Amino acid sequence: MSDAFAELIGSLDPALVVVTTALDGERAGCLVGFHAQSSIEPARYCIWLSKANHTYRVAQRSAHLAVHLLADGDADLAKQFGTRSGDEVDKFAELAVDEGDAGVPLLQRCPRRLLLRRVALLDEGGDHVCISCEVVAVHGASDGDFRPFRLSHAAGWEAGHASEERPEPPTERAAGGRQAAN
Ligand SMILES: Cc1cc2nc3c(=O)[nH]c(=O)nc-3n(C[C@H](O)[C@H](O)[C@H](O)COP(=O)(O)O)c2cc1C
Repeated sequence: MSDAFAELIGSLDPALVVVTTALDGERAGCLVGFHAQSSIEPARYCIWLSKANHTYRVAQRSAHLAVHLLADGDADLAKQFGTRSGDEVDKFAELAVDEGDAGVPLLQRCPRRLLLRRVALLDEGGDHVCISCEVVAVHGASDGDFRPFRLSHAAGWEAGHASEERPEPPTERAAGGRQAAN
C-alpha cells in the first residue's frame, strides 16, 4: 500500500519549496513537498511539517512563516534545506537573508514567496502536522518565466530528519527530570 501510494503521488512530481520561520531570533527552515493553496477567498495556504524537524518545533510557537518557491537552478539550496538540520547547522549562515515579520528569514535568492500568518494547526496523529495560514503578502508573482524545482530533481536525497524520528529527550522538562533522577 505505502509503495503504491508513494509512486502514485510521486507521479504528480510536486514543486518543492523552502519554508522558513523564526522565534526570538532562532531561525529555522526546511525543504517541503507537502504544501498547497486551500482557499481562494479568504486566501489560505497549508504547509505540512514533519514532527521530526527543527523547523516544526520553531513553527509550533511562531505565528509567521514564509514559503519560498524554488527554481530549477536552486538544487544546492534545496539540498541544503532538505538534507541538513537546524539541530546541527545554521543553514542561513552563508546566505543573503532579509527579515520579515517577527524575524522570519527571507532568502534573497528566492524572490517568489508567500508571507504567511498561521491561523490553525491540525495534528491528527500522523507524522506531519498541517499548518493552515492566511496569505499576508505575495512577492514576485509577475517575474517572468519560472520553472519550478520538483520532487523528481531530488531523487535519492536523504532528508535531514527521517519522518519517524523524534527529539530525545522529547522536552526540556523530561531532560530535567532525568538529570534529577540520576
Ligand atoms: C524531497 C524532500 C521533500 C520533503 N518534504 C518535506 C515536507 O513536506 N515537510 C517537512 O516537514 N519536511 C520535508 N522534508 C524533510 C526536511 O526538509 C528535512 O528533514 C530537513 O533536513 C529538516 O530540517 P530541519 O530539522 O532544520 O527542520 C523533505 C525532504 C526532501 C528531501
